[in-house]
Amino acid sequence: MKGIILSGGSGTRLSPLTKVTSKQLLPVYNKPMIMYPLETLLKAGIKDILIIVAPDHAGDYLNLLGSGKEFGARFAYEVQDKPEGLAQAFLIGENFIEQDSVCMILGDNIFEDDFSEIIKNFKSGAHIFAKQVPDPERFGVVKFDEKGTALQIEEKPKQFLSDYAITGLYIYDSRVTEAAKSVKPSLRGELEITELHNWYLKKGELKVDMVKGEWIDAGTFESLYRAGELARKKTK
Ligand code: TTP
Repeated sequence: MKGIILSGGSGTRLSPLTKVTSKQLLPVYNKPMIMYPLETLLKAGIKDILIIVAPDHAGDYLNLLGSGKEFGARFAYEVQDKPEGLAQAFLIGENFIEQDSVCMILGDNIFEDDFSEIIKNFKSGAHIFAKQVPDPERFGVVKFDEKGTALQIEEKPKQFLSDYAITGLYIYDSRVTEAAKSVKPSLRGELEITELHNWYLKKGELKVDMVKGEWIDAGTFESLYRAGELARKKTK
């Protein structure tokens, strides 16, 4: 299993903080935000990690994380020139992924859960994680039937579909690069990760589990503050 940390984007909701640095380098209690998703991957035993960053401040990631040796891992870096969507990570990362499975985590997502067992036991298809939220319109959401099987997935639905948000940790087999090549840009000009999930869903190969502990997408002032509080609580 290889790992990708997707750490590009523009971070406009956190301006003016993000005028001087990248969102995922902002402090969350006692370390830069990206260290939390990195720890989630390292804890699961993933040793080959591709870090995808935006062109601005790219050098700061290298200063912070280096070769990976310090963490007992190997880090590779790629630049995403423009924020053209989450699914683009698998085009940028095609040569890195090769014939392996891959676990991608977003650089601003902080999870309390330990995904080690799931990641170690993953065989094929796609495995994603949902969490009930009060503001589902901000996310890709998934609708389940009464047995808990995923029926439908939609990106930021205008009409209420479900309040289960798809969180920023995704596991796929190596076919994800093939799936990403079939994705066309959406109306907002992005290659949507939802399309990858629908690609696997249509084949009956998408598994959706619940996130049990806290999950924070630290992309707003409010959630960045909560992330700091959670990290402080865990450190004490
Ligand atoms: P978002 O938080 O949706 O977007 P953003 O980071 O650009 O922030 P804002 O909406 O405030 O401008 O992105 C979710 C995560 O995915 C975040 O960690 C950034 C990352 N991302 C990329 O790396 N590349 C992309 O093309 C996009 C759309 C997001």
